[in-house]
Amino acid sequence: MESRIKNICCIGAGYVGGPTMAVIADKCPHINVKVVDINSDRINAWNSEDLSKLPVFEPGLEEIIKRTRFKNLNFSCQVEKEIQNAEMIFISVNTPTKKSGLGAGQASDLKYVEACARQVAINAKDHTIVVEKSTLPVRTAEVIKNILEAYQIHNSKNGEKPTFDVLSNPEFLSEGSAINDLEYPDRVLIGGQNKEAILSLSEIYRNWVPEKKILHTNIWSSELAKLTANAFLAQRISAINAIGALCESTGADVREVARAIGSDSRIGSRFLDSGPGFGGSCFKKDILNLVYLSNYFGLPEVANFWESVVHLNTWHQHRISKLVVTKLFGTITQKKITVLGFAFKANTNDTRESAAITICKDLLEEGANIVIHDPKVTAQQISNDLGQEEGVHSINEGSWHFSKNLYDSFINSDACLILTEWIEYSNINWVKVSKMMRQPAWVFDARSISNFQKVKDADLSFWRVGDGS
Ligand code: NAD
Ligand code: UGA
Repeated sequence: MESRIKNICCIGAGYVGGPTMAVIADKCPHINVKVVDINSDRINAWNSEDLSKLPVFEPGLEEIIKRTRFKNLNFSCQVEKEIQNAEMIFISVNTPTKKSGLGAGQASDLKYVEACARQVAINAKDHTIVVEKSTLPVRTAEVIKNILEAYQIHNSKNGEKPTFDVLSNPEFLSEGSAINDLEYPDRVLIGGQNKEAILSLSEIYRNWVPEKKILHTNIWSSELAKLTANAFLAQRISAINAIGALCESTGADVREVARAIGSDSRIGSRFLDSGPGFGGSCFKKDILNLVYLSNYFGLPEVANFWESVVHLNTWHQHRISKLVVTKLFGTITQKKITVLGFAFKANTNDTRESAAITICKDLLEEGANIVIHDPKVTAQQISNDLGQEEGVHSINEGSWHFSKNLYDSFINSDACLILTEWIEYSNINWVKVSKMMRQPAWVFDARSISNFQKVKDADLSFWRVGDGS
């Protein structure tokens, strides 16, 4: 399909920028896609010859990179140059929660987005369409537009001013299934005012997305819809985890309850898996942002409603740690606990806000010696997340070690705690494991992936989330 856009620049080569632009380049060979970042290590990793060293692990990504890289997809640190050459610029930088100042702990820190807007304003030539790909508080487009227009006055060359349109095009991909989500999206959302700009972006997606799946809204609806989608998804997880706790106290089984309610087509069956609590870089951050916005607009009841989703999640994670201590006769000091999985979910090496961080910190505080296994997360990453080096004892005597080998991690262990649903954890030979562990030994399955009967037959005590039966 002929496209009016020939050169795209994406600022931010992270979990979203990298895979999103790779798919655009793959589906649109007639468009030059440049991904830029200030982090040179990240750019080098995107350019590395060994594709297993790409900074993002996503099934299917390597093949796409192989097809497109150094052809119509390029990664570099040349932010200014690539802005100048592009007719369309995606802003795909991080928008973390503010750590200090006004709105600390809730509001999004927009300093990276603002820096991008200034760079675009200074360097853009002619007419440029700026696309918000990052998840942003509602009305951020106004901020971006103000910055672009303010510079426009100073930037005019021989009376010719660069002009801008701002669109919102939030990303709904999930990590671990990013490529599939990008290739077959449920919908593509484009919010904006200018029809020509909207058409230019729609045209790009129409190379592989059916037209009826491309939704057009006003820009504020688009920004708010992204926050709302994440809030609704996270709310379902807190809801099912709350019911899971009730199941454990009443003899019900959360899987049966989920199946029963999920077959109601109004409720739907997805996102009803009780687990160790939601993690990932966005759910908590985006809900807290919604909480901040609600309070800002004088709606404290709305803010409290959404904040309770995050409170429940945190409570649930601590509940699991306490349960492990209680079942192990009230103390885990100097006991060896095998933790299976550190990523916030399977098929990703991302640990941001992973339930494993909170739970492992609790166990370390109780003085446990933890052995952590994860097929994709590195020991260095775990060390950063726990704020404690491998093999070093904390004040409470707690320490952790990394195990590359799954079965070695069980030697003399008092308990095993499954926190990420990696496929290999569902096929563990429990008879073999039972002989390696110190008896009486426990299996705590916070992901409900192990075969209940096989664990019991191996003479291991068993707990799984939401099972009161
Ligand atoms: P990330 O931290 O992985 O990547 C962001 C990148 O932007 C970093 O590499 C950083 O160096 C770069 N950057 C920051 N400021 C820059 C600047 N001024 N110039 C050039 N580069 C700059 O973040 P991410 O996970 O890709 O998320 C990006 C946005 O997308 C966030 O708003 C997030 O909420 C949203 N989002 C994320 C996901 C996800 O699954 N991770 C899904 C949908 C939406
Ligand atoms: C989530 C959304 O699903 C994406 O649509 C969105 O684009 C993205 O956030 C974002 O804005 O960053 P992601 O965080 O990659 O994607 O992962 P999810 O699959 O949504 O899982 C989030 C957390 O919820 C994980 O810890 C997962 O284990 C947990 N979860 C998920 C459950 O505990 N139960 C479920 O039924 C589903």
